[in-house]
Amino acid sequence: MDEKKHSILIVDDEESMREFLSIMLHREGYQVTTAEDGAQALICLNGNSYDLIISDVKMPRLNGFQLLAHVRQHCPETMMIMITAFSTTEEAVDAMKRGAYDYITKPFKNEEIRLIVKNALERKALRQESLQKKEAVRRSSYACIIGRSAAMQKLYDMIGRVAATKATVLVTGESGTGKELVAKAIHANSGQKDSPFVAINCGAIPENLLESELFGHEKGSFTGATHAKTGLFEAANGGTIFLDEIGELPAMMQVKLLRVLQEREIRKVGGTRDIPVDVRLITATNKELEEEVAEGRFREDLFYRVNVIRLDLPPLRARKDDIPLLAEHFIKKIVPPETALTLSDRALKRLVEYHWPGNIRELENVIERSAIFVSAGEIREEDLPPQLLRSRTDGGAKGGMEELPAAGLDLDGYLGNIEKEILLKALDRTNGVRKKAAELLNISFRSMRYRLAKYGIDPDGDEEELPSDLAV
Ligand SMILES: Nc1ncnc2c1ncn2[C@@H]1O[C@H](COP(=O)(O)OP(=O)(O)OP(=O)(O)O)[C@@H](O)[C@H]1O
Ligand SMILES: [Mg+2]
Repeated sequence: MDEKKHSILIVDDEESMREFLSIMLHREGYQVTTAEDGAQALICLNGNSYDLIISDVKMPRLNGFQLLAHVRQHCPETMMIMITAFSTTEEAVDAMKRGAYDYITKPFKNEEIRLIVKNALERKALRQESLQKKEAVRRSSYACIIGRSAAMQKLYDMIGRVAATKATVLVTGESGTGKELVAKAIHANSGQKDSPFVAINCGAIPENLLESELFGHEKGSFTGATHAKTGLFEAANGGTIFLDEIGELPAMMQVKLLRVLQEREIRKVGGTRDIPVDVRLITATNKELEEEVAEGRFREDLFYRVNVIRLDLPPLRARKDDIPLLAEHFIKKIVPPETALTLSDRALKRLVEYHWPGNIRELENVIERSAIFVSAGEIREEDLPPQLLRSRTDGGAKGGMEELPAAGLDLDGYLGNIEKEILLKALDRTNGVRKKAAELLNISFRSMRYRLAKYGIDPDGDEEELPSDLAV
């Protein structure tokens, strides 16, 4: 550590004391500045930073304690040593409580000062070092999960902690936020990582096959069951089973899963024996399970069993700082390493501005798609798909605006654009049939006609018969 470069501010209303300390510390090789009282010290602090402040307590205008309070709040890295009179030890103790590093009582010896100053500066260096280490630990990825934002740091921490247990985990988040990736990361960091990780999408298997898929069946248990079959729970034994889209689980299977979670046993279709299973269950959903429970579509007792530890993944638009990092990651994934492919600044700006309803999966697709169109080793703005190129003020119909544009906006024009877009989409959906489009948007036919005329939209669908009561 090079002490010689350390800067020290000496604050004392007594000129002789300022001079004494200044000469001594200067001789020690420190860079020394002096101030006559707290108020002048504040002026010095404005725009300058010091490693250490040595300040008297009793001073006119702004005293040492007031200065200490300011320093703790505004320059937390600066160390502070208070000078007190010998008679006032309580004052010294008080100063330490308020965040001073140490104190010296008058009169003092040179050696004492030297030592205290040296210790204070060493302590400061140590603190900085540990801060830097902490910063270095801030990860930009974890088990293939990319992201450096605060939300992702929190997630990494949670994954690490959950992985160390065998607790049941519910992963929630919008589509494409990485729920399956997180489930895999939990497994990969667990003590069971060498046992199987088995995933199944509850929404993708026909209801009548799901039970046999999960629990297996005995030979002859139903028509077509020509062989006995091992279910996924058994296959995952000792490891992790990931039930994706748990919100889609049919009512009958909800009861059966509840029983497995309570008893830690399964029974095959057509079987008579209970088979013990030791698996960690991770479930995922992009539905609001609480709402499903309230609506009677998901059993409350099962909900409590699966919702033991909850990891809620943030949508991509809530962690835009990660977009450049993710884009770079997907580019590297797509193009061979020898091909240099970059993103133009404007293209990156578009990526950051977009609201990403399909989250990371959509970003991955966009990068992949754009990389096909690119010519000169750079993905340009115009290589991006059209949904990203729509101006921010007319693209926000569904996702809403992220922020009010700095220059403000024309509210009527903005709403008009959204309205027009919705009308066109409704007409598109109904093949131009205005009556159906009106129903879709829950407005009257008359209102629909008025709005279409207002925006000059002329649908080319079948001209439906005008109901007589609506004839104008
Ligand atoms: N943080 C991330 N870093 C890198 N890749 C990611 C990240 N999150 C998601 N992905 C990638 O995005 C895609 C979608 O992720 P995943 O399938 O885990 O999402 P999901 O939440 O399960 O979506 P869905 O609800 O639609 O099933 C995958 O290709 C995955 O590898
Ligand atoms: Mg998924």
